[in-house]
Amino acid sequence: MTAAAKPKLYRDLARQLAAVIAGEPDLIANTANMAALIYYGLPDLNWAGFYFRNGAELVLGPFQGKPACVRIPIGKGVCGTSAARGAALLVPDVHDFPGHIACDPESRSELVVPLVENGSVLGVLDLDSSLPARFDEKDREGCEQLVELLLVHHRKYPPGSLRRNFDDRTSNRR
Ligand code: SME
Repeated sequence: MTAAAKPKLYRDLARQLAAVIAGEPDLIANTANMAALIYYGLPDLNWAGFYFRNGAELVLGPFQGKPACVRIPIGKGVCGTSAARGAALLVPDVHDFPGHIACDPESRSELVVPLVENGSVLGVLDLDSSLPARFDEKDREGCEQLVELLLVHHRKYPPGSLRRNFDDRTSNRR
């Protein structure tokens, strides 16, 4: 896909995301639909989904693709590094990323966008592709906008539905 086509694709995805989450406060339902929209809406992905923070770990959330690693320590792998930095990470070749966690050995490139609310990282959106250098800055911007749309939507539900949702989701039942 040409770089020029990406902004329109992400605008379309944003419209679809707004439509499927409209009026719905449940974070699991909304992130499940968001993972599906991204997985089926963007070409050449082999995984798309969420990890939610639980203390010092990220724990697998809604996703599309093959079964994946369940727990990732903050600071480890691409996801944990993005969460530790509170910033998106674009990895053109995961073989060159020290500590990359290979849930699926076919994955070659990866984009991770953190979910940051009031300065704290609630989780990450993770996209994988079997193609090297599948993701570029347009993808990063597009995915950051989708994540922002999700976060802004959840702020509408008092009292602090996003935080409460995550706290409920992440209470430690081990
Ligand atoms: N590759 C990720 C692990 C998550 S899976 O790709 C779904 C990482 O290094 O954090």
